[in-house]
Amino acid sequence: MDLEKICDKVKELAFSVGTYLREEQAALMKKDVELKGTRNYVTYIDKEAENRLVEGLRELIPGAGFLTEEGTVGFEQKEFTWIIDPLDGTTNYVHGDSPFSVSIALIRGKETVLGVVYDPLASQMYCATGARKVFLNDHPITVSSQSTLVNGYIGFGIPYSLDERGEKILENAMKQFRKCSFRIKGSAALEICYVAAGVSDAYFHSGLSPWDVAAGAFILQCAGGKCTDFSGGDNYIFDKELVASNGIIHQEVMETIIQGD
Ligand code: IPD
Ligand code: CA
Ligand code: CA
Repeated sequence: MDLEKICDKVKELAFSVGTYLREEQAALMKKDVELKGTRNYVTYIDKEAENRLVEGLRELIPGAGFLTEEGTVGFEQKEFTWIIDPLDGTTNYVHGDSPFSVSIALIRGKETVLGVVYDPLASQMYCATGARKVFLNDHPITVSSQSTLVNGYIGFGIPYSLDERGEKILENAMKQFRKCSFRIKGSAALEICYVAAGVSDAYFHSGLSPWDVAAGAFILQCAGGKCTDFSGGDNYIFDKELVASNGIIHQEVMETIIQGD
């Protein structure tokens, strides 16, 4: 299998679906916005975008399985499995805001082998096919060299279902406002890529799903960064907990959000 060729095709598909998202945002009417739960939005556009992705990706690797947010196809793990979020950042999207993205990962067995995240408003295409084979619009990217949380630029997100543990994590994070700058951008896939590109130094979130994390996490690791779950383990794609960083400040971030001051 020629992964680079597949990656080029995946980028073309992400570009075409991203363009669809961008064009439809202006036409979106309030009546078209549904709620999956409190603060958790979905539209016909998420579903149509997912249909287009599944159709396009099926042609690339016949027989591959899928894990998709909107459930266009039932989850089936195969030798190759696509993990996709057709529209990451739906809350921004339905409010006419930015950013939002298309996120596509390819898993072989248990290993991620390809990640593509596309922001159609900023025209930013992040992609990776292996260590140091990681690009933003064809320019190689690497993580920041920030060595401490002091003056760090840190992203995080607020989960849809905010339980006591989530509240505790946020409470601990709030204490760090004293030493670093925090941002919530609203598209986990992109916010992990910002760490990969050295824009931010770390990102953390509880309550995420595999399609929010898989592509971005691979892109970040290929750019020299680190991803773990909140225990420091590697179950960050399926276990709903993610700490993503430039690697250097990873431990400091973990101590901050889990234990606090
Ligand atoms: C959401 C975004 C958001 C994060 C949420 C995710 P969606 O994905 O990534 O930044 O805070 O937890 O579910 O619903 O827009 O695809
Ligand atoms: Ca998402
Ligand atoms: Ca989504």
